[in-house]
Amino acid sequence: MMRNPVFLAPTDDAGTGKPKSYSLNAAMIDDAQAGQAQHYADHFGQPGYDDPTCMYISQRYDGYTDENQETWTTLFDRQMQYLADNASNVWLSGAKAINLRRDHIPDLSEINSRLGPLTGWASRAVPGYVPAQGFFACIGRREFPTTIVIRPKDSIDYLPEPDIFHDIFGHVPLHADPVFADFLQTYGQAALTTNDESHTERLARLFWFTVEFGLIREDGRLKIYGSGLISSPGESRHALESPEVDRRPFDLDRVCDTAFEIDHYQPILYVLESFEQLRDAMNTYAQRLLKMADETPLSNTSS
Ligand SMILES: [Fe+2]
Repeated sequence: MMRNPVFLAPTDDAGTGKPKSYSLNAAMIDDAQAGQAQHYADHFGQPGYDDPTCMYISQRYDGYTDENQETWTTLFDRQMQYLADNASNVWLSGAKAINLRRDHIPDLSEINSRLGPLTGWASRAVPGYVPAQGFFACIGRREFPTTIVIRPKDSIDYLPEPDIFHDIFGHVPLHADPVFADFLQTYGQAALTTNDESHTERLARLFWFTVEFGLIREDGRLKIYGSGLISSPGESRHALESPEVDRRPFDLDRVCDTAFEIDHYQPILYVLESFEQLRDAMNTYAQRLLKMADETPLSNTSS
C-alpha cells in the first residue's frame, strides 16, 4: 500500500504510537492504548482489521502542560488576525460554530458536542500515522483522525508533521459546513472503492490542492481555506501575496494530474469558485470510481 504523505503523522519505530517529533511531551497520550491503536492502524485493511474505531485513542486532557497551552494561544493569536480578513467566510463561520478558543487547546469532546448537531462530523484522536485506507475509512463515516500532540514551544515555526493546531484549527472548522462536510465524506467513500495506486495518487493530489492548500474566491477576492494555509502564517501570506504562485482555476482532472511537493511553499494553487463546485466535482469523480469498481471488483486489483 502506498504511504501517502498527505495522511502522514509521525510515529516512532518501536510501535508505541508516540510521535517522534514531540518527545518533549506526549502525556495526553496513553502509551499502551496508543501502541494498540497504532498497531491496528498499521494493519488496517488486512483480515480482522476493518474497524476504524480501533485506531482511536483517548485525549488525556490533563496531560497538556501550561507550556503546551501557551503554545496554542501563541499560534492562535498570531494567525487569527490575518485570517479575519483573509480566510474563507466558511472557515470563519465554522471556527465560531465549534467555539474555537484562543485560551485553551481544544478538548475534542467539546468540539464534537458542537460539530455533531451541525453536520454529524466528529474529530477522533489517533496516536500517529493513519495509512491511506484507514484514513479513508474514517472520513467515509464522518470521523476525522486527529493528532492531539502539540508542537514544542521551541519549534513553533517549524512543523514537519501535523499536530493538534494543524488538525483542529486548520481542518475542523470546515467540517461544520454542510457542503464541505458532504464533499469530505464522499471523498473518503469514493477513495475506499479503489485499490488502484494511480487513483490513490490522484485522490491524494485532490486532497492536497483542496483540503490542505485550497484557495477560494469570495466577494471578488481570493481567500484561503486549506488547512496547510490556515495553520501557517508564512504559507498563508505566500499563497495570497506572492507573485511567484501560479493560481489556477479549479478543475478536478487538472488537479489530479498535478504533482505536489511537500518540503517548500507551494508554487501552484487551485482556486474554487464555491464549495458547491468542489462537492459537485467530487460527486462526479465518485460516480466514475464506482463504475470502475463495478467493472473491476476490488478483489482482482488489490496488491
Ligand atoms: Fe492536514
